[in-house]
Amino acid sequence: MDQKALIAAIADQVRAQLDGESSGHDWWHIVRVWRMARRIGGSYNVNMLVIELAALLHDIADWKFHDGDEEIGPRTARSMLEKYHVPDQVIQAVTGIIRQISFKGAAGIRSIPSTLEGGIVQDADRLDAIGAIGIARAFAYGGYAGNSMHDPESAPAIHANQEAYRSNRSTTINHFYEKLLLLKERMNTPEAREIALNRHEFLRDYLDRFSKEWDGLA
Ligand code: ADP
Ligand code: NI
Repeated sequence: MDQKALIAAIADQVRAQLDGESSGHDWWHIVRVWRMARRIGGSYNVNMLVIELAALLHDIADWKFHDGDEEIGPRTARSMLEKYHVPDQVIQAVTGIIRQISFKGAAGIRSIPSTLEGGIVQDADRLDAIGAIGIARAFAYGGYAGNSMHDPESAPAIHANQEAYRSNRSTTINHFYEKLLLLKERMNTPEAREIALNRHEFLRDYLDRFSKEWDGLA
């Protein structure tokens, strides 16, 4: 099977599995990450097959919905790729990326992928959490999780550790301070950083406007 056919087959399976998912990891999130990862990857001498497969499979199974089992994603991806006889070297690169890219939340914990391909997929995934789409995803997730949109009496918390981030039930506006506004400093490539700066400005403008409207000033 050639690379194009393999990618198409994996994309079909991911689509079937994630279509209509409502916590922010739906198929269209995958499509955006896939496209952005290809765009950033285009500036580098990288293994584009690894990038595309990792982008497609990076959210195939999330520890947050499987009792914190962090191996569920890499394991699921591996078994899908093995069915297509993908070389083990490629499978290892892809599962390694899936393992490394998820945001662990706590202030001091930064998971920096060990390969450029991983850094690029992580950048693409993080870019989808900021800007206009990031805002939409945050409120969609908040609704899904049953969190309030905003509570002026609850301050944002920077989580001390991963456990605290996982069990966090704060408001969606707090999520901007706990995660979204931190992402521009965490891009791995200059290409992503430039896009992130622009999206970050948009988040800032949005928060200003939100607070003005909240106070009845705009
Ligand atoms: P990733 O796709 O990087 O693994 P997550 O699974 O943590 O990210 O989040 C998926 C989407 O849901 C992101 O856009 C993220 O900002 C949003 N999200 C996650 N946790 C919260 C939260 N507590 N409140 C609002 N949005 C959230
Ligand atoms: Ni994702």
